[in-house]
Amino acid sequence: MADWWRGSVTYQIYPRSFQDSNGDGIGDLPGITSRLDYLQWLGVDAVWVSPIFPSPMADFGYDVSDYTGIEPIFGTLADFDRFVAEAHARGLRVILDWVPNHSSDQHPWFIESRSSRDHPKRDWYYWKDAKQDGSPPNNWQSEFGGPAWTWDETTGQYYYHAYLPQQPDLNWRNPAVQAAMLHTLRFWLDRGVDGFRVDALRQMMKDPQWRDNPPKPDVAPDLGPDTQAMPVYSADHADNDHVVWMIREVVDEYNDRLLIGELYLPYERLMRYYGTAGRGMHMPTNMHLIRTAWDAGQIAALIDRYEGALPDGGWPNWVLGNHDRPRIASRIGAAQARVAAMLLLTLRGTPTLYYGDEIGMRDGLIPPERVRDPWGLRSGNPHLGRDPERTPMQWDASLNAGFCPADVEPWLPIPDDATVNNAANQQADTGSVLSLYRQLITLRRREPAFQIGRYRPRGADGDILAYEREHDGRRLLIVLNLSANPRAWFPPDDPPLGRVILSTLLSRADDHVAGSIELAPDEGVVVELS
Ligand code: GLC
Repeated sequence: MADWWRGSVTYQIYPRSFQDSNGDGIGDLPGITSRLDYLQWLGVDAVWVSPIFPSPMADFGYDVSDYTGIEPIFGTLADFDRFVAEAHARGLRVILDWVPNHSSDQHPWFIESRSSRDHPKRDWYYWKDAKQDGSPPNNWQSEFGGPAWTWDETTGQYYYHAYLPQQPDLNWRNPAVQAAMLHTLRFWLDRGVDGFRVDALRQMMKDPQWRDNPPKPDVAPDLGPDTQAMPVYSADHADNDHVVWMIREVVDEYNDRLLIGELYLPYERLMRYYGTAGRGMHMPTNMHLIRTAWDAGQIAALIDRYEGALPDGGWPNWVLGNHDRPRIASRIGAAQARVAAMLLLTLRGTPTLYYGDEIGMRDGLIPPERVRDPWGLRSGNPHLGRDPERTPMQWDASLNAGFCPADVEPWLPIPDDATVNNAANQQADTGSVLSLYRQLITLRRREPAFQIGRYRPRGADGDILAYEREHDGRRLLIVLNLSANPRAWFPPDDPPLGRVILSTLLSRADDHVAGSIELAPDEGVVVELS
């Protein structure tokens, strides 16, 4: 199919937590390669790996000190090449996580830049004088708390960082920075990667006048970064269009590659990142399912808003969880997480599945002394950090869950439920959430209606969310019960006639549908309409 990513399912791997192969308690590339058979069995099409480049690990790889190398913790370039070759041999695409907004403060570029005011690389980063009273140049705040400016004693200026002080922002208005960074894209494209997830895209260009952001309105507390009210001058700048276009141009020098832009933005702002005339991201991320209340009416309204806002030819995508947000099974409970799986895999657009969600992993309990996430450490509140959703993959019932050897301490604790709740047990259990994910993915692969078909809302009625997907006259109806009580759906018009072909409960007494649908508690069904 043209544009392979349209009909595909993406699987996100957090490399520290997927599979340790060398017994240091941290996942690595050979570990990922050793689990590719599992991903092929599951049926996903593409693997997005969070950053694997050399990094002092202040933000666990999102602080890059060399954009064209492999972090020794994760392996070598040879390990990387083998991973790509083995993935491709299984028909799996590889998407890397590119972090262009900021480097590590240990990157040679920044070390040079901070060495003196006259260094030719001084303006590769943003350096500004203090205000007269010595305070930072403006009121911009770091996503991880505190001012976004850090004072440099040696050269007597502040530098800007949208995230940690160890993550100085690169000056993308400087053509030398543009050239150096675009070169790093080609480096990986030449090595055969199929695309990039572009980190922190909304922050790349900043107000050239560095104006103060207006005071924030009250916002509901949320768990995770990037959740403050929209900073007017420090994010989503109009000049981002130009950067997006430069990145796209490079990727278009190669066949069939994909760009996913990480963008936490309201829909009316998000759509701009599709660009015009093929100049944008193929998929600006749609993060809204992560934040919306688990309520049929609100989800239906969200889908309508998204579908309605998409530009012509703009391909949708959906995300239920990632390495920055609490896991879906912890947000809505194990039973509803199965309904969420059906929603994710039957909506129109490319779904991204976060590792471990397919076995219903929950947020881990992290004792205060084992908190590792800088955001958690800085906030002083262990529950605010992102460690809980980054615990090691639960492969089997052995000590350390098959993630690392039994006598090694994994970098984050393994949740107690791993002895029961793990991939091996669930592969053997036809009623497991893993079996459900696999069946949903298999069905999706078989049904063009799910891959590329039209979306038609059938309404939200109390706890029930219903919609259809249609392609070439084949109509599939999805009806989801978002409650823990039995529910019946009687649509006011177009009464459904057909047969249930999949239930989230994976067993169903009656597959016959005539006019209405009875749903068990926490049940969702796919109905083939006749
Ligand atoms: C993105 C990443 C997050 C990281 C931040 C800074 O939001 O998903 O994990 O901390 O960018 O790079």
